[in-house]
Amino acid sequence: MYADIVTIFPDYFAPLDLSLVGKARRAGLVDWRVHDLRDWTHDRHRTVDDTPYGGGAGMVMKPEPWGEALDQLLAEAWSTPTLVIPTPAGVPFTQAMAHELAAAPHLMFACGRYEGIDARVAEHAASRMPVREVSIGDYVLNGGEVAVLAMMEAIVRLVPGVVGNPESLVEESHAVGSGLLEYPSYTKPMHWRGLDVPAVLLSGDHGRVDAWRAARSLERTAARRPDLLPPTQD
Ligand code: ADE
Repeated sequence: MYADIVTIFPDYFAPLDLSLVGKARRAGLVDWRVHDLRDWTHDRHRTVDDTPYGGGAGMVMKPEPWGEALDQLLAEAWSTPTLVIPTPAGVPFTQAMAHELAAAPHLMFACGRYEGIDARVAEHAASRMPVREVSIGDYVLNGGEVAVLAMMEAIVRLVPGVVGNPESLVEESHAVGSGLLEYPSYTKPMHWRGLDVPAVLLSGDHGRVDAWRAARSLERTAARRPDLLPPTQD
């Protein structure tokens, strides 16, 4: 998986070289380039934003630098990329979408700031490549950079070979299939600050352990994310 990330804050993406994602890059399993949107401006102030038509607070990112950036990156691409535009007005980013994007050979991320990017950029890009406007949650960030960091981590760990033990991808919360939250986990020591590890986990009885974990998953999901429970048959 290869990604082009366009932003006015390239420094945001230095942490991608840490930990599992950085290791995957060094192993040649994934790669990315970070581009400064201002490199596609032509005025002395390297302007990327302007006031909104129709009035209102805040600034909107101008279409011209985005148009030129996408033109150039598309011309350099060896296969049609999928353009991902993070925005609080997007469709929800989910584990299922992370799987889809992990299977795409080439992603482009367009990080907006301020009140977002002139809407014609996505409209025009859609005539040349698949475009996904995506939100990572029902809250407003100052820009798309942190959303792209989150999405890149979720996507890269699904690329084959990145996570050492693929079993761990199956069991974790939101694994496509179960759709329930993950059960609680414990490790040594057995007693800690007056709290004990649930005895069933020490029993060595895999059937009982599985049943206990399934019950805890259901209980947690009901308490924290009832929207994820399968519909009940009345
Ligand atoms: N940009 C600002 N807020 C965002 C959000 N919640 N998700 C994705 N991109 C964003």
